[in-house]
Amino acid sequence: RCLKGHTTSFVRCGKPGYVMPGSFVKCAEAIYNLKVRPDDVWIITFPRSGTTWTQELIWLAENNLDYETAKSIPLHERFPMLETTSTIPEIAIELIKMNFMDLSSFQGVGNAVREPSWESIDKAPSPRYIKTHLPLSLLPPSLLNTAKVVYVARDPRDVCVSYYYLHKMVAKNLFKLQFHHFWEAFRRDLLPWTPIVAHTDEAWMKRNHPNLHFVFYEDLLEDLPKQIRRLCLFLGRKYSDEEIKQLAHHLSFDSLRKNKKVNNTVGDGGVQFIRKGEAGNWREHFDSKMELEAEDFLIERLRGLDLKYPTVS
Ligand code: A3P
Repeated sequence: RCLKGHTTSFVRCGKPGYVMPGSFVKCAEAIYNLKVRPDDVWIITFPRSGTTWTQELIWLAENNLDYETAKSIPLHERFPMLETTSTIPEIAIELIKMNFMDLSSFQGVGNAVREPSWESIDKAPSPRYIKTHLPLSLLPPSLLNTAKVVYVARDPRDVCVSYYYLHKMVAKNLFKLQFHHFWEAFRRDLLPWTPIVAHTDEAWMKRNHPNLHFVFYEDLLEDLPKQIRRLCLFLGRKYSDEEIKQLAHHLSFDSLRKNKKVNNTVGDGGVQFIRKGEAGNWREHFDSKMELEAEDFLIERLRGLDLKYPTVS
């Protein structure tokens, strides 16, 4: 169920009122009614949580470690995005309307949207690999009981920083948005796919479902081979220690950053899609006021929930 949002181009969907572009209304019903297949593998994340990294891992684990194909076909073709997303100008214009940005800092238009797959996915051959940033409640109700689903979660502060750089990257210097403005919009749930904690909590509550694999970005960072083994077990794939080692090497930050089939967008000033790859990078971007705001934000959003982030005390 989508209702008019806080601005003219965004709508609020589902129970906590997830922010989606107005164009999402066109695909919301089709996505909700999509026929899920038992051999589908889905990845669900809030943007900038380690989606791409985990997609490459899932795809290779599922395809017998076929590096040859992985190196010849872009990841977004092997593992396409489901829904229609907001365009950067839409977001920029909304931020201007919300007074988070002035017009002088918006220097033009850019468009970073890739073809969504929701219209063609019904005809796609099996097995399908489906990426989405939609929360579980906006996805087909039969999803978890039918297909395998991986959810990747990340500390919202690091997500916010990374999300900010994504905008700067895809907008190719078209607008000079400042981080504190972006944080303000993020914590007030005004950006696409927010609210983040509710999004993650939906999956956290289902983490013991046999078809859901829940993993934190920070745990991938801490011990990638261990998390590869966990994920392979979930997918029912068995690889030797040597193969796991090789896969971990392929998925390492430096190697994935150089991989043009995965990291294929570079913005002005050299900002790349695979950017920093750290836990706690937010500390370099939050001043003491923002730090306190973030503390309050997390306390308030996590109140009454069972969800615990490994990096939030
Ligand atoms: P940063 O911007 O903090 O560096 P998504 O794919 O969901 O958009 O997530 C992007 C984030 O995952 C970026 O975070 C990116 O650098 C990080 N990432 C991608 N591959 C990674 C890897 N191999 N190791 C660590 N972080 C990685």
